[in-house]
Amino acid sequence: MITLALSKGRIFEETLPLLAAAGIEVLEDPEKSRKLILPTNRADVRVVLVRASDVPTYVQFGGADIGVAGKDVLIEHGGEGLYQPLDLKIAKCHVSVAVPAGFDYAYAVRQGARLRVATKYTAIAREFFAQKGVHVDLVKLYGSMELAPLTGMADAIVDLVSTGNTLRANNLVEVERIMEISSQLVVNQAALRLKQAQLRPLIDVFAQASPKN
Ligand code: ATP
Ligand code: PRP
Repeated sequence: MITLALSKGRIFEETLPLLAAAGIEVLEDPEKSRKLILPTNRADVRVVLVRASDVPTYVQFGGADIGVAGKDVLIEHGGEGLYQPLDLKIAKCHVSVAVPAGFDYAYAVRQGARLRVATKYTAIAREFFAQKGVHVDLVKLYGSMELAPLTGMADAIVDLVSTGNTLRANNLVEVERIMEISSQLVVNQAALRLKQAQLRPLIDVFAQASPKN
């Protein structure tokens, strides 16, 4: 049995065509079903639905053999115990620093200043500002980062941006782009050895079927 960990929403939706290329069809719609383990048309493949940020943990500890996780999530997790053979080039976005329109960011990050930054991505933010030599006080949040500067709780946020619509709707502007993000295929290291015969062909089909840029 191969167990694939996916999160509901964009990662599930964008992984479906890759599964289809491998002849795998998920038999239940996660938006309609309350089930956490979904069967597929292949008796030897099942999908487990987990939070996006839990995918690396499930694969690391063998709750799943393979999974699909954003680079953002993998950096925050640390990637221990995971083999990352393939950039699937799906769920593309970037991680950026954003501030309220009119906020003087250049002044706020001058030498010797401190910046209060709200984010779910503390590892990425810590590393980025350390490289710049900017002192930051990080405020860890689990969602709706945009609200933090609007309520005065932070000067800036580090968050995912795709179309920019969420920032615009909240009168925030992107001031620095930290990194490009896409989703990676992650594989449990022991499973890759023990289930090679089943996993290798799947990885090869995903590589061929994933978007080319
Ligand atoms: P969790 O449920 O663990 O808090 P989440 O709500 O961030 O996670 P999703 O919104 O489904 O989960 O995002 C899953 C992944 O998709 C992210 O880790 C990121 O790599 C990517 N992603 C997030 N937002 C966007 C977006 N607006 N456009 C494209 N890709 C995105
Ligand atoms: C993500 C992210 C941003 C938004 C950016 O949220 O956290 O808020 O997308 O995308 P945009 O630039 O195209 O507006 P998402 O829509 O996944 O909501 P969630 O974090 O509540 O799941």
